[in-house]
Amino acid sequence: MTQLFAHPEVEDYFVEHDFRLAARQDGQAARQAVIDDFVGEKLILLRGLTFDADLPFLRSVTFHQKWKWKKLALTRFHAIPADKRRNDPEIIEFVKDIFRDDWARFEYFVQQSAKINDQVLAALDLVFSSYRFSQRHVVWRFTETRVENLHFDVDRHCDGLELVRLYVNLDDAPRMWYTSGTFSTAAYEWYDKLKLSRFRGQSTDALLKTLDTGVFGDWNARGRDKVARHLVLFEPGDVWLLDGRRVSHQVMYGRRVISTLFVAGQDGVPDPMKTFAHTVAELHQFHEENHGKLPAHLARRSAAEKLPSSSGAVDLRTAWEDLPEHVRQESLIRL
Ligand SMILES: [Fe+2]
Repeated sequence: MTQLFAHPEVEDYFVEHDFRLAARQDGQAARQAVIDDFVGEKLILLRGLTFDADLPFLRSVTFHQKWKWKKLALTRFHAIPADKRRNDPEIIEFVKDIFRDDWARFEYFVQQSAKINDQVLAALDLVFSSYRFSQRHVVWRFTETRVENLHFDVDRHCDGLELVRLYVNLDDAPRMWYTSGTFSTAAYEWYDKLKLSRFRGQSTDALLKTLDTGVFGDWNARGRDKVARHLVLFEPGDVWLLDGRRVSHQVMYGRRVISTLFVAGQDGVPDPMKTFAHTVAELHQFHEENHGKLPAHLARRSAAEKLPSSSGAVDLRTAWEDLPEHVRQESLIRL
């Protein structure tokens, strides 16, 4: 069960989809529903996607807290033949740091992590079968992450690209995030205050960076955030996906997650009108034509999606302890 401590002043963009429906041969409508929510600035919890691998073993692997191992693409390790791995300086360092020179344990880790990678790649290829990706990365983040700053992702040189990030919590503890609104809500509300028109026709890096700093504060403000935020606890085994440029986020605490970065150009997407590049172009176009106003659909959406005020204390027995196991594992609960 994913626990969402929803803030009444922040729009609710959490949705759930069933991977098992999307994976069916006749699941085109279910796949399209995921994609519509992905480009529609939602945070998608993908239910029913499980992995055939030795998860207890993977949870027993503790990464040395070293910057070098923070975001690790294991594909390089996987690609090197087993009999050549002992000659690779980076692998030697990795085995020493993580496995205390226990090569048998390392080889098993390589085997199990390759199984996970294959299944993650296949799952995302299936859901996004109408896309043609030019890059498909799976990144292992097994070091501990504490108190990032709240942000929209700034991916350099990614204008005109669609970026799909899917996360799997492989840890035995929840991964804790804050999230504080969508790109559209922030960009339309702050457009004039932050003079975002100056970024028209330029790379979106600078616009996103200005938005991050102006709305949320910079890296040094992390942990002292003042903006209204949802707190979400992603359970062990939870799978979720989003475009990190469209949904703000902040890791408060987490270990052992894997994430993807799938990249598609404008010629690899089914509908170029539903891309992040198009959203940014629309933002500038709207402000040129309607100076100082909020678009009607956004104003309506904000009002409709904001949550009602909490009606008193939450009884965690009914919210957690008394729920059947399958409900606890498979549902989002708003607290
Ligand atoms: Fe991020």
